[in-house]
Amino acid sequence: MYARIIGTGSYLPENVVTNADLEQKVDTSDEWIRSRTGIRERRVAAPGETTGDLAVHACRKALEAADIDPASIDMLIVGTTTPDVVFPSTACLIQQRLGLGECGAFDVNAACSGFIFALSIASQYIQTGACKRVLVVGAETLTRILDWGDRSTCVLFGDGAGAVVLQADPEPGVLSTHIHANGAHANLLHVEVGVSKGFLPEERGGMSVKMKGNEVFKVAVNTLGRIVDETLAHNKMDKHDLDWLIPHQANLRIIKATARKLDMPMDRVIVTVDKHGNTSAASVPLALDEAIRSGRIKRGDNMLLEAFGGGFTWGSALIRY
Ligand code: COA
Repeated sequence: MYARIIGTGSYLPENVVTNADLEQKVDTSDEWIRSRTGIRERRVAAPGETTGDLAVHACRKALEAADIDPASIDMLIVGTTTPDVVFPSTACLIQQRLGLGECGAFDVNAACSGFIFALSIASQYIQTGACKRVLVVGAETLTRILDWGDRSTCVLFGDGAGAVVLQADPEPGVLSTHIHANGAHANLLHVEVGVSKGFLPEERGGMSVKMKGNEVFKVAVNTLGRIVDETLAHNKMDKHDLDWLIPHQANLRIIKATARKLDMPMDRVIVTVDKHGNTSAASVPLALDEAIRSGRIKRGDNMLLEAFGGGFTWGSALIRY
């Protein structure tokens, strides 16, 4: 039994923040941001608009596309690092709003790899026969934990949500998923405060993403190269068997490095980082939904999804659509 995608959906908050807008806040330029990252603009959630709100919009679209009764969902998994509240989980908070039954519902925190980790869990539940339909979501309001005075991070991130309905099917489907983590370099990309460790008052930094961008960049390129090899080898596939690359949307230069490794022309690579920035766990399902709805990805196409994020965490999924 395979987990097959039967519907996708996504949602972006209305408020667009351009590079020119950021030039007014910090010492940066549109030229610097575009040439280093590929980002032109990003979306920022409205005051009071939460990760759960974004996720609900994305899930409704995915359920509608799948054309199924929401009550038939057996499990809901939300990949997020920016939950609405400490608990209940964002998954529990949105379950009733979506009209799901009392299915298992939980969040997965794997930073930018959150959606791939959630997809991996969902796929295992379907393969074993324990679940027939799973709703998998990546949703974030990362702009809530940015230091808007730190030009090295605040220009990079955005808010959004993406969702996928998976259904058990004898036809593939998710062919394999691969997840990894290594906490050895946690301090290269992290939020150094929290519930148990304690929070800092605003004047001492509050709660914000800290990143040594340059070092993260090198590890990301190397690690993504390795996971791509691992995924193809596991499936006894050659890089030329891939129709699409749907990468985590952190930085166009990282995306291009992975595409080069796979010998893939950029017109087979889904790129949304220019419009979305890095939406963390939401980035892969947002890109996937956009590519499917635009008709680029067709039934039977092989697509490789990959992500890398804080932890470090990284993962991939090879999927026949
Ligand atoms: N505008 C203008 N200048 C900026 C800037 C900004 N927004 N942010 C940093 N700079 C400056 C730095 O201060 C530095 O100046 P200095 O040389 O005078 O010290 C210079 O630009 C170069 O900084 P550096 O960090 O070396 O730039 P970079 O080429 O590595 O690009 C990133 C920075 C963040 C774009 C890049 O490292 C990156 O994308 N890293 C990976 C990030 C990522 O993917 N994170 C998420 C993983 S999920």
